[in-house]
Amino acid sequence: MFNIGHVISIRDFSKREIDSVLSKAEELEPYARGTRGDLLAGKILANLFYEPSTRTRLSFEAAMKRLGGDVINLHSPEASSVAKGENLADTIRTVSSYCDVIALRHPQEGAARMAASFASVPVINAGDGAGQHPTQTLLDLYTIKREGLLDNLRIAIVGDLKYGRTVHSLTYALSLYRARLYLVSPPELRIPEGIKSDLEESGAEIYECEDIGEVIREVNVLYVTRIQKERFPDPAEYSKVAGTYRITTELIAENEDVMIMHPLPRVDEIDAEVDRTRNARYFLQAFYGVPVRMAILSILLER
Ligand code: NCD
Repeated sequence: MFNIGHVISIRDFSKREIDSVLSKAEELEPYARGTRGDLLAGKILANLFYEPSTRTRLSFEAAMKRLGGDVINLHSPEASSVAKGENLADTIRTVSSYCDVIALRHPQEGAARMAASFASVPVINAGDGAGQHPTQTLLDLYTIKREGLLDNLRIAIVGDLKYGRTVHSLTYALSLYRARLYLVSPPELRIPEGIKSDLEESGAEIYECEDIGEVIREVNVLYVTRIQKERFPDPAEYSKVAGTYRITTELIAENEDVMIMHPLPRVDEIDAEVDRTRNARYFLQAFYGVPVRMAILSILLER
């Protein structure tokens, strides 16, 4: 179904390809909920994670296992030959011969594309530095679609728009759906100029501001993100922007229908009280990682 064979950047996808992943995910959702499946029996996924992860790694693993497949893991580079100085290309060449598909998370932007050029199996980018996180975007879109909001979407994306890879991937995808984007961040964490001009060129409607209060009544989705502490070259710069935004029940009261999303993990940007409101969707969103990753894996492996 994909022309590409790898899943590196959401920009490599057409709207039709995205829609077909979302439909496939819908079809597979019962398996994510526990129906036994064997679509991926005999297949092995290698999870290569050079950065921390909870949801991405475990939902890939759950997706694979619930469809009858198997998983091998490198979740601690310190315990592998990476610690002896092995480069990524050699690791990828080797691991390719042990599995049918690789999910790679790496701190360096561009690592997944590089890895794909050395791999003899499909590579899925599970996050490359501040670059892209295409599978997160697909599950974000799935969440929005399941709420019937994908057409006519007015979304505020809040927090770290500079370093947040989930934001970079999501904004590109949303420009295909003609969403209206409200980009809310401190001036230091605005979306990179290069991405902004790409979005504008593709006809996206963008409004940038610093204050959520200004846009809360305009949107049907509030997509909150964590300030990406680990990407700041200078910790003092992080301290200046840490804790800038906090979503509270008082804020939500200004727009009772707004749906709150977050790729997670959250630190302090969403008040725990919000979890109990009917607006909160972030844990459901995390669950949707399973059917969406099932869809991606089965499309790549059924070729
Ligand atoms: C995100 C990531 O790793 O980019 N997490 C995830 O995959 N759900 C978001 C983050 O770390 O803030």
